[in-house]
Amino acid sequence: MANAAVSAEAKSGGISRREFLYYIWGASIALYAAQFSGLLIWFLLPRFREGEFGGKFILSIDQLPEVNAEPANIPSGRFWLVNLDTRAPNELMKKAPDESEEIVGVAAIYKVCTHLGCIYAWTAANNRFECPCHGSKYRLDGRRIESPAPRTLDRFRMEFLDADKNPIPDTLSELVDDFYAPVPIPDNASFISVDTGDRKMGPSPALICSFTNECP
Ligand code: FES
Repeated sequence: MANAAVSAEAKSGGISRREFLYYIWGASIALYAAQFSGLLIWFLLPRFREGEFGGKFILSIDQLPEVNAEPANIPSGRFWLVNLDTRAPNELMKKAPDESEEIVGVAAIYKVCTHLGCIYAWTAANNRFECPCHGSKYRLDGRRIESPAPRTLDRFRMEFLDADKNPIPDTLSELVDDFYAPVPIPDNASFISVDTGDRKMGPSPALICSFTNECP
């Protein structure tokens, strides 16, 4: 009797209860797959666009400061660009007595003080970065001159690009003791790429003022 009813339903163009459950099951699987794909795409896409803090900044090499000159301010990226060379020391940049290696190259320095997070500034009159909140002072490369800052200023990873904006080999920031070392400028550099999503905390060497007995 039941079989007769099902075949009658099929003949009349309707769907059986079993077919209906199959359709519901298939639709559920398709919906789940669509949601999973959407999540996967969202996860794989970069979270920050180029030129947005948290993402990469591509800057012309012309925006770099001269060697051992005042830092270049990049407000949208919340960093300073510095161009260092202790082989040509001056009032802004010279080695401290405990530094044996030359410091040469470009670094991108985060603009937030390592003490309690205030925004410090370059103070041209004193040739150093100074924090207005509690008086921390930093050398041009970000090393602490005076506390209460607990460590050197943080740095972002960077690399140089050629005229077609292709990465130049061996110019990606190198990690030295888990901190980004300055990158020497290659001859064919046209652009510099700074990744503000990749920051390393500065180390905590001795205060520079401790060598001059001028620490407060
Ligand atoms: S936040 Fe900069 S010295 Fe305290």
